[in-house]
Amino acid sequence: MISVLPELVIVLADLAAAFLLLFGLKRMSSPVTAPSGIAYAGIGMAVAVIASFLYALSVAPEAKPHLLMNAGLAVAALVVGGGLAWRSGNKAPLTAMPQMVALLNGAGGGAAAAIAAMVLLGGITAPAALVVTLAGALIGSISLSGSVIAWGKLDGLIKRPMRFPGQQVANGFAFILTLLSGGYIAFIVLSGTAPILAMPTLIAVFFGLALIFGVLMTLPIGGADMPVVISVYNAFTGLAVGLEGYSLQNPALMIAGMVVGAAGLMLTLLMAKAMNRSVSNILFTNFGATKTHKKGKIEGELKPTGAGDAAIFMRYAKEVIIVPGYGLAAARGQQKLYEFVKLLQAAGVVVKFAIHPVAGRMPGQMDVLLAEAGVPYDLIFQLEDINPEFETADVALVIGANDVVNPAARTDKSSPIWGMPILDTDKAKQVYVIKRGEGKGYAGIVNALFYKDNCNMVYGDAQVVLTQMIEAVRGLTKTAA
Ligand code: TAP
Repeated sequence: MISVLPELVIVLADLAAAFLLLFGLKRMSSPVTAPSGIAYAGIGMAVAVIASFLYALSVAPEAKPHLLMNAGLAVAALVVGGGLAWRSGNKAPLTAMPQMVALLNGAGGGAAAAIAAMVLLGGITAPAALVVTLAGALIGSISLSGSVIAWGKLDGLIKRPMRFPGQQVANGFAFILTLLSGGYIAFIVLSGTAPILAMPTLIAVFFGLALIFGVLMTLPIGGADMPVVISVYNAFTGLAVGLEGYSLQNPALMIAGMVVGAAGLMLTLLMAKAMNRSVSNILFTNFGATKTHKKGKIEGELKPTGAGDAAIFMRYAKEVIIVPGYGLAAARGQQKLYEFVKLLQAAGVVVKFAIHPVAGRMPGQMDVLLAEAGVPYDLIFQLEDINPEFETADVALVIGANDVVNPAARTDKSSPIWGMPILDTDKAKQVYVIKRGEGKGYAGIVNALFYKDNCNMVYGDAQVVLTQMIEAVRGLTKTAA
């Protein structure tokens, strides 16, 4: 009874952790419940950490002398890792979240690979567990080094995609070499044959090759595709953690890993669908690099107007639909935007926000941006719900968005964004577009919307223009008073 009790406590704690993680994840599906979802998942994580210390109660007698030392190392790792994460989590601005997610995801992959290394060095011999451990090691290592490169690209440390002729072949060769080294380890262990190198050296070679492959695979991909790449690596990390959970026979790791892996996979597919591209197109073609699309057959002229004129027009409109995009995040204009919206609402204008699933540079970026500014959730609408309303809206105000409102997606079969669902702003009676100049969006193409008769451009940094708009509406109210 006494020896069974610790094991039972550990299993129950693991299951509680897994339940809390799943429950937290479920709540993250809506912006309203997401903050509490994060808190539940965090508690689940804490329970899992405590449960891993409980293993001390049931270690084999020969491991007992190392208990204090190992517990000390684990506490030191917790203090250093937790401290760094706490500091960077508090310090990082919202626009730096993709980089942070990349780093944390890499850490997850690295942790799974480290578990695999310990299991392999511990002399695992059961065939199924050996293969699963090797697979987890491979996937976790690729996720670690690939995520670090993704972080470097998003943080601007790696400025350009690194490409050379025959790169796909070289990458394929590196991958096969990595598989062969893993296969050789499995062969040595299962057949009992004497290895050509000492086992720790063989394991180091295998990990080294997997890490190099992760770097090679990520270097040629354009920086703007990194959010999708991170999502792919997120799926990898989840899978690696799940596989190592099997190897350690730990239910919490198995469940959490598989759920994270499946969520990462679904997010990748949803992002690819919203961009109307296949995942292989994102990973293996140089989409972000070919920014040569010219104005082509687009008719009409760009018609600049002042911030004040646009603001006053909106002040007297019945309904305004606002489309935020990457430029709003880059300008950090969300607080000014909501200030402007409140002035419009005070004047009786109905204001709604229209969110495209891939607006910005990471999933949910616009939702988070608006939530940060305090915009109530009931003003925010997703693409399929708001699109029919553009036809009756007086104004569509596009702020730092470009590709997600480009009608070429509906009309031009030769366009790189052909088939991508877009927000139908061109159907509004009047469109205002705030952007700094004639800069293109992520897809690198000219936007036919900007040349339409019903569209006026308000040039300037989004935050500066919105400040001018606020002043114009306030000035009007003061004059009236
Ligand atoms: P984009 O098409 O990238 O356009 C952003 C526009 O913002 C640019 O044309 C730029 O024009 C303007 N801008 C930049 N800084 C600004 C500032 N400080 N003030 C005002 N305007 C500014 O953005 P979008 O419409 O949000 O579309 C997102 C694109 O990214 C899509 O093509 C999507 O497929 C892609 N993508 C999205 C994701 C996710 S998950 N969101 C992931 C990967 C790729 P100026 O230079 O003239 O100012």
